[in-house]
Amino acid sequence: MATYRPDSKTLLKTDSILEYVLDTMVYPQEHERMRELRLISQNHPLSFVVSSPDQMQFFSMLLKMIGARRTIEVGVFTGYSLLATALALPDDGKVVAIDASREYFDLGLPVIEHAGVAHKVEFRQGDGLAELDRLLAEAGEEALFDFAYADADKEQYGGYHERLLRLVRVGGVVAYDNTLWGGSVAMPRDTPGSSAYDRVVRDYMVGFNATVAADDRVEACLLPIADGVTLCRRVK
Ligand SMILES: C[S@@+](CC[C@H](N)C(=O)[O-])C[C@H]1O[C@@H](n2cnc3c(N)ncnc32)[C@H](O)[C@@H]1O
Repeated sequence: MATYRPDSKTLLKTDSILEYVLDTMVYPQEHERMRELRLISQNHPLSFVVSSPDQMQFFSMLLKMIGARRTIEVGVFTGYSLLATALALPDDGKVVAIDASREYFDLGLPVIEHAGVAHKVEFRQGDGLAELDRLLAEAGEEALFDFAYADADKEQYGGYHERLLRLVRVGGVVAYDNTLWGGSVAMPRDTPGSSAYDRVVRDYMVGFNATVAADDRVEACLLPIADGVTLCRRVK
């Protein structure tokens, strides 16, 4: 029987499978500064919001496969996914990193500097929608970015989608985190263990994934990695 696991970093059948993936494939190849920032983030009281290491390893490879040079991240926290992105970009690459708070980013910034990639990071403090509107105004109608990662407030994903599809080039990729929301999208909305907030986000994700699936501007897939990642490749 399906179980809602809001605190788990995986939708795999058992946590030991995730441990196997991490121990076999992720940690042996992990950049020293990624390890440092992962440990700092895991010790933070809000550690549950940090992206999963196996997901970041996949993003790193994806960014290199699509030859990404310019990217956007909405939802930075301590900068764990931001560091993974900055390390995967070429030396003249750029990641515009947006977060409503600067406090968490400042915890990770020394590690990003130590990794030698701070020059690729342009941090902008503000609301995700407002900052993307600002970027759109600066970019005009030019789609300047190769990749975007949305991992901020979940109920704004629809608004992020509309803006990111104008900012990311045709052939570029937009990734949305937490789109399986602990597996709850495939469970009755009153599944025991879920909070009122879980039910709101679960309903939102059900609608968001359906909208993306019907959106002819993108080719999309839903990866059951970490808490679910919806990947969209812009096709028009
Ligand atoms: C899930 S965390 C991001 C985790 C990060 N991607 C990582 O892998 O470590 C979400 C972040 O979104 C930020 N946030 C929440 N609402 C926001 C909004 N409306 N606009 C911009 N950032 C927001 C929070 O401050 C928080 O740092």
